[in-house]
Amino acid sequence: MKDLFSKKFDNLLNIGMLLLHSEDLETFLEKVLSEARSFTNADGGTIYLVDGDKISFKLNQCQTFIDRFGKEYAKKIFENVKIPISKESIAGYVAYTGKMLNIKDVRKIRKNSPYKFNTYWDENYGYTTKSMLVMPMINQKKEVIGVIQLLNANKSGKVVSFTKEDEKIISYLASQSAAEIENRNLNVKIYRANLNTIYRLGIVAEYRNKETTNHIIRMSHYCALIAQKLAWSDKKVNEILLASRLHDIGKLGIPDAILEKPDKHNHKEEEIMKQHCLIGEKILSDTGLDLLEQARIIAYTHHEKYDGTGYPQGLKGENIPIIGRIAKLSDDYDAYSSKRCYKEAYSEEKILSILHDEKGKSFDPKLVDLFLDNINEVNQIKEKYSDDKVEFDKLSNISFLEFSSKVLL
Ligand SMILES: [Fe+2]
Ligand SMILES: [Fe+2]
Repeated sequence: MKDLFSKKFDNLLNIGMLLLHSEDLETFLEKVLSEARSFTNADGGTIYLVDGDKISFKLNQCQTFIDRFGKEYAKKIFENVKIPISKESIAGYVAYTGKMLNIKDVRKIRKNSPYKFNTYWDENYGYTTKSMLVMPMINQKKEVIGVIQLLNANKSGKVVSFTKEDEKIISYLASQSAAEIENRNLNVKIYRANLNTIYRLGIVAEYRNKETTNHIIRMSHYCALIAQKLAWSDKKVNEILLASRLHDIGKLGIPDAILEKPDKHNHKEEEIMKQHCLIGEKILSDTGLDLLEQARIIAYTHHEKYDGTGYPQGLKGENIPIIGRIAKLSDDYDAYSSKRCYKEAYSEEKILSILHDEKGKSFDPKLVDLFLDNINEVNQIKEKYSDDKVEFDKLSNISFLEFSSKVLL
């Protein structure tokens, strides 16, 4: 049997490991709390996170409740609980003062103490809270961002007090968790800043682009569909969905007379039109941001052809970045299948024959096969965002809040 020291040492290592492995916030907090409970042998535990002037319940684990009511119901008991950050309640006091509380017996809290034990849960769910260890989660800026609360330490079937050693380890766990949560919040902020740029550049492009917003939406959804069928991660799929929307951002730099010319472009005008890839590349270069870097690559390479006859670089085959090859197919497919001011939509027959002919010429043959294998889903996208429907979600008609809530979900 492992001695106590090595069990505790294992626990400490576990804490380090769980902080290293990035998962979604809820899973992360779930692990933090179960480690905290296992280390201190606590029957129950709760994590609150600061939410404005309140602390809001994020997670609860209570063995007695789980045994009695089942995991799902036990979880629901505490849902939507919010406590003011003030000295009156125990968790509120800890959040307010940033000081830990180690209470031997909640029923013996001194009368003159600023905080009181709230008996509501015990009375309504037949539980007896006795000992409590309540630890603030403090970030590097010395702000309290949450509270870890542990209930009823157990020793040989009896409820005992939390020890000095428990205090030390839970304090360590709380500060490490606070750093990790801050880190995650920062990543979310960076992601939102990227989205914000995409959203705003998207609006600019929308004002300038002769092609409809629906074209951009359909094209980006075809890109995402292909990425999905290539079994890319959700993050990557979402990235191409957003980044591909800026594929023609470089048209901002093309003179109106050429961009808006209703007739066919002459050779010189065509050469100027081709510049939009280089202009797009320039607009999006050196951002140092993942999402915009993807957008830059797409803007630069969405007119390259698989056989090397495309522009601006004349790249060939796999030398064209995969997102560029995906964008080329999606962009051209939408041009074939929708009405433009200079042409009607092609028939399905004609489109299929072009796709077959251009396999290995304009397009990556593997992507064409994948696209055709999933033509039903392609058609669903075409139908959902068709031009005769009201423009679905013209960027300039929706706020950034709506935009981000749509894509962040
Ligand atoms: Fe283009
Ligand atoms: Fe396009």
